[in-house]
Amino acid sequence: MAAFLALYISSAFAQAPSAPGKPLPPGPMQTKVKAACTQCHNASRITEQHMTHQQWSKELEKMEGLGAVIPAADRNGFLTYLTKNFGPATSGAQATVKKPAE
Ligand code: HEC
Repeated sequence: MAAFLALYISSAFAQAPSAPGKPLPPGPMQTKVKAACTQCHNASRITEQHMTHQQWSKELEKMEGLGAVIPAADRNGFLTYLTKNFGPATSGAQATVKKPAE
């Protein structure tokens, strides 16, 4: 008599519930940006960007058009935070000192 043993060894796949992507870097506006900007998409939408102050300003307008709520008092703070952390590739702590041509 054959015993049909169906042994399903369930392998423990460690499946992350959601890929968090790159988190928003710490800063005075981190909590507020996280609250206002990660309702519709995750933070990596933001962290993958490299934009100038003006481009971020336009982006905030676009997001407002989509339904984002950015407190007027925080708008400049948002822009500073975004431009500082996700500014154009050339921005950052690296000070570029232009040497005069000899
Ligand atoms: C009401 C929903 C909503 C909120 C809140 C929101 N976004 Fe978005 N965001 C979207 C949608 C929808 C897209 C995709 C737009 C597209 O594909 O054109 C998007 C895309 C983006 C992108 C990718 C570039 C682009 O324009 O497609 C960036 C950057 C971004 N959002 C930043 C932000 C920031 C910063 C905030 C907070 C101020 C924010 N979002 C809040 C809906 C939202």
